[in-house]
Amino acid sequence: MRILGIESSCDETAIAIVSGVGDDLTIEKSLVASQAALHAKYGGVVPEVAAREHIDAIFPLLLAAGIPRDGSEIDAIAVTSGPGLVPALRVGVELAKTLAWAWKKPLVAINHLEGHLYSTFKAIEFPALALLVSGGHTEIVLMKDHGVYERVGATRDDAAGEAFDKVAKLLGLGYPGGPAVSKAAEIGDSASIEFPRPMIESGDFDFSFSGLKTAVAVRRRENPDDRVEDVCASFQAAVVDVLVAKTVRAVEKFDPKCLILAGGVSANRALRDGLKAVIDGTNVPVNFLVPDLSLTGDNAAMIAAAGYYRALRGDVCDPLTLVADPNMELV
Ligand code: KG4
Ligand code: ZN
Repeated sequence: MRILGIESSCDETAIAIVSGVGDDLTIEKSLVASQAALHAKYGGVVPEVAAREHIDAIFPLLLAAGIPRDGSEIDAIAVTSGPGLVPALRVGVELAKTLAWAWKKPLVAINHLEGHLYSTFKAIEFPALALLVSGGHTEIVLMKDHGVYERVGATRDDAAGEAFDKVAKLLGLGYPGGPAVSKAAEIGDSASIEFPRPMIESGDFDFSFSGLKTAVAVRRRENPDDRVEDVCASFQAAVVDVLVAKTVRAVEKFDPKCLILAGGVSANRALRDGLKAVIDGTNVPVNFLVPDLSLTGDNAAMIAAAGYYRALRGDVCDPLTLVADPNMELV
């Protein structure tokens, strides 16, 4: 089965073609047009600006993917229908509906977060546990089967990626903040400043990162001469410690066959390496799956992959009535 994937929930316009046989998925094309540089001057994503950019970018990407004009060679279309910014989501959703109707192909609506769960392109054995860390979400999800999820824990305020972005902003490192903070952290001393590890001993699987962000702001005001690199390294260590501690505890409790780390923050080297090291050090046998660095951020290949499994189950929707849902929940 060959799936066309479409993603436009935030500031990346993406088109992909993924073919699948059983659990073997192959990315034939994965094209991403990023608007990050455009939004940098506003310090964040402006929904209306993002939508206009998606409109300009999406047809050139579709043509660049080399799909025949009549849609032959495509068996189904998968599109992110939420969560995200409504004006941005609608660009992809309306394109997908139009193509599905004109080509008479099945249309699959995909939750963006489910897309991230499928971004490793490795066969998922169930039950699986996923640490999903993106700009808008930080969740630990138990995957009982394809499409059968239970949220085990989530952030009560800021997402981990959001905390990286806000700390970058207050340190004057620009947008998007995660890559800038993690780059500065590489040459910083992570033991130089003792930041709090929020909720690390809470006994549940929830997170809270807004207080940590405030702690960085207060520290900055009181110690303006701290090296930015040291602040970044110390902040990053606090985030990673909490994410790793809670995830490992969840692995011990739920005993999954595999552990998935996904979402934009999964690009963070300290998190990837830190989680792997702790998992390797436990006596819990779990297959650790992480996306290739090129697939940690938003892309349409992961949407097509999630769409493949939904299409296999016949979980399709009506191209005339699908609407973007900015608050779509994974479970
Ligand atoms: O998944 P994603 O691309 O978009 C959403 O679905 O939200 O995640 C974007 C988030 C941003 O907050 C960005 O700062 C963060 O991922 N991020 C990182 C790194 N690369 C991206 N955070 C920490 N370290 C990184 N290397
Ligand atoms: Zn994302």
